Amino acid sequence: LKRAQAVCEDAAVDVRLIRADMLTHVEPESYDVVLNVFTSFGYFDDPRDNARVLRNAHESLAPGGQLLIDVMGKEVLAGWIGRPQIVELDGAYVVQRDTVLDSWTRLRTDWTLVRDGIARDASITSFLYSAAELRGLFEDAGFAEVECFGGFDGEPYDHHSKRLIVRGTKPGGDRGSS
Ligand SMILES: C[S@@+](CC[C@H](N)C(=O)[O-])C[C@H]1O[C@@H](n2cnc3c(N)ncnc32)[C@H](O)[C@@H]1O
Repeated sequence: LKRAQAVCEDAAVDVRLIRADMLTHVEPESYDVVLNVFTSFGYFDDPRDNARVLRNAHESLAPGGQLLIDVMGKEVLAGWIGRPQIVELDGAYVVQRDTVLDSWTRLRTDWTLVRDGIARDASITSFLYSAAELRGLFEDAGFAEVECFGGFDGEPYDHHSKRLIVRGTKPGGDRGSS
């Protein structure tokens, strides 16, 4: 957040940065857009908590406001999963392994960073969503006009897609979606 603050000041952009838990953070009817990018959704072990995050976003949007969530879709992941990936990073190596859990419900990603002959491990488990599943969660949370895209330029979500972006609108505004 300190780095983000510095970047915003350099760019003379006036922003309010806050640190909060998306499970509990709500600012009723305060925003036109809630944007959740680069797989920042699905980390709670209880699926009801992930659904709660969507309801919090719904509550924080003004009528007509839109929620966008950008994740690695289950369909996309299925195309390349199973091959360990090795990335060179500033003289170190990162090995990434993905493991599908609970009949394609969740994904565990394990990383090993090897630098100067020393290995360190990290791991994250998150829910995996197909387009239909995430669209259904949006609708359950009260969103209308829910659509899936394969990119931020509005590409279709299809066999070329690298990301899954779902957009929903909070009913009640006169802006419509565009
Ligand atoms: C894969 S990273 C994406 C980071 C960033 N959005 C980006 O585009 O680089 C996932 C992010 O989800 C955030 N996150 C996970 N659980 C959270 C929670 N309960 N409340 C708020 N943020 C959370 C983490 O802090 C992390 O920054």
